[in-house]
Amino acid sequence: MLDELQEAFIAHFGEPPQHVIRAPGRVNLIGEHTDYNHGFVLPCAIEQHTLVALSPRTDNTVCTLALDYERELDTFRLGESFTSNTHQAWANYVRGVVCALQDRDFSLRGCNIAIIGNIPQGAGLSSSAALEVGVAKALAVDNDLAVSNLTLAQVGQAAENDFVGCHCGIMDQLICTSAAVGTATLIDCKDFTLKPVNMPSDLSLLLVNSNVRRGLVDSEYNDRREQCERAAAMCGVSSLRDVPLQEFQVNRQAMEPLVAKRAQHVLEENERTLLAATALQNNDIEQLSQLMSASHLSMKHLFEITVPPVDFLVDQIGEILGSHGGVRMTGGGFGGCVVALAPAELLDDIVARVEDTYYSHTGLQASIYTSAPAGGAVSIQ
Ligand code: GLA
Repeated sequence: MLDELQEAFIAHFGEPPQHVIRAPGRVNLIGEHTDYNHGFVLPCAIEQHTLVALSPRTDNTVCTLALDYERELDTFRLGESFTSNTHQAWANYVRGVVCALQDRDFSLRGCNIAIIGNIPQGAGLSSSAALEVGVAKALAVDNDLAVSNLTLAQVGQAAENDFVGCHCGIMDQLICTSAAVGTATLIDCKDFTLKPVNMPSDLSLLLVNSNVRRGLVDSEYNDRREQCERAAAMCGVSSLRDVPLQEFQVNRQAMEPLVAKRAQHVLEENERTLLAATALQNNDIEQLSQLMSASHLSMKHLFEITVPPVDFLVDQIGEILGSHGGVRMTGGGFGGCVVALAPAELLDDIVARVEDTYYSHTGLQASIYTSAPAGGAVSIQ
């Protein structure tokens, strides 16, 4: 990928890039739809990543070349007010990041950018966060900005909230900036503390993409967020993080049943996430397996963000894993990937089972990837 990026950069802009940033995708092991409720999440960065190459220009133009979108170009000028690009959705991640940096009073010079990546898109593996963080970090390096990992993550999140229109939380961008190799990270999304947790070296990270096309994701996502905020308001607080489970049991009678179900998922998922971090640390795979399974069922029945092909994959893989590993849907939902932590000796059986059953049951082909817990975004040139 790097060679292809360098060649395309030279072909379009007439010189090699001055900076190249590598920004990883992520998989969330547990703690789904808890981040925007200021709760706990347990993601890790993955090896699949996005590369962002950048060189400064002498004018105030930002010109971006997207290698994965048939080498489309997007051009706009700094200093003038620019809006979202209605024809090229990918360009809004770049525009949004520039806008969010300028909103925070960081001054930027014009630049040429080229982007390439191998994170499957629309699969719940945060290809968008990798793009946002990669661009933000490249701009930070080029303009010598003193920005923390948290600020970079918040810039990426703001781009997505304000320019793309998905009211996502901070998890994806924060793990992308801050992950440490070989670990998952327990993130407290209330105070942004990060606790690395070693991943057991005898478990492999398997990602199975259901290849269900995720329609209406953003509106379903934003609906869930709004339902959670309503539940918190009914408990007299601004976020569900501040509602103890017992207090919720009292208040739930007054809530619409749908809103109560959403809140129950979030509150219990927070508890599961803390327990899962401890289980991972203690290499207690049986406990981890139970928690991941309970998380999936809660996403299916209470938060209602899974779809039948994804449930099918989880059931099939779960039958093979038993208590020797964990499996659940990962990410925002309505399709995308299943994550499995599996002992190496069961990998072949899992792959065979998916190949034997998934297409005949759903009419869809699954894509299977192995990965490993990777580090956060870095300058590689
Ligand atoms: C998406 C969002 C995250 C998080 C997850 C669900 O990935 O970008 O902020 O809310 O969904 O856990």
